[in-house]
Amino acid sequence: MKKIALIYWPKGGNVESVADKIIKCLPGTEIIKVSLDHIDSKSLTESDFWIVGGSTVGAHIWQDADDSNKWMSFFKLLDQFEMSKKTVAFFGLGDQILYPYHFVNGLGILQEEFENRNAKIVGQWPVTGYEFKDSDGMKDGRFYGLALDQDQQEEQTDKRIDGWLEIIKKEIGK
Ligand SMILES: Cc1cc2nc3c(=O)[nH]c(=O)nc-3n(C[C@H](O)[C@H](O)[C@H](O)COP(=O)(O)O)c2cc1C
Repeated sequence: MKKIALIYWPKGGNVESVADKIIKCLPGTEIIKVSLDHIDSKSLTESDFWIVGGSTVGAHIWQDADDSNKWMSFFKLLDQFEMSKKTVAFFGLGDQILYPYHFVNGLGILQEEFENRNAKIVGQWPVTGYEFKDSDGMKDGRFYGLALDQDQQEEQTDKRIDGWLEIIKKEIGK
């Protein structure tokens, strides 16, 4: 069984509560929870499988060249790892009713950053069952990772996590 790192940001909101749910659904797994303000490089080196999750809260959160931007610092840090040896799965939080044309756009940024570094990306998820109009977080009818909407479809979250874990468990070796 592979060691897993669950890397997430921000803390204290929907992303973190979903991160905790995912960890709960993987009992007996060696999994370390890593928030972007406390990156533990040793644990990240030792884990072969990363689950990476965030929310879409405006493009600036992901893309500003500002040094205080946690995601930008994290993406730069990726260059220290041999990413072609890592397997990665994403989850993304969004609100499909308030942001129907930008639903979980952040998944697209994660995809781009990890794809550019040749990581193996798994855990794509079908777009059926959501009501959005457009998203940078999808391609060919599938999101780049698990899309979750705690604002509009919270009741679907547990079922979606279970279904998604079934897909990625094969990769974890469970
Ligand atoms: C200022 C702001 C901007 C947002 N923009 C988007 C967006 O562009 N696309 C989207 O799908 N959700 C958007 N959301 C919804 C959040 O992604 C969603 O509420 C998420 O669950 C927040 O998780 P967090 O509290 O852990 O950050 C936005 C929320 C806020 C507050």
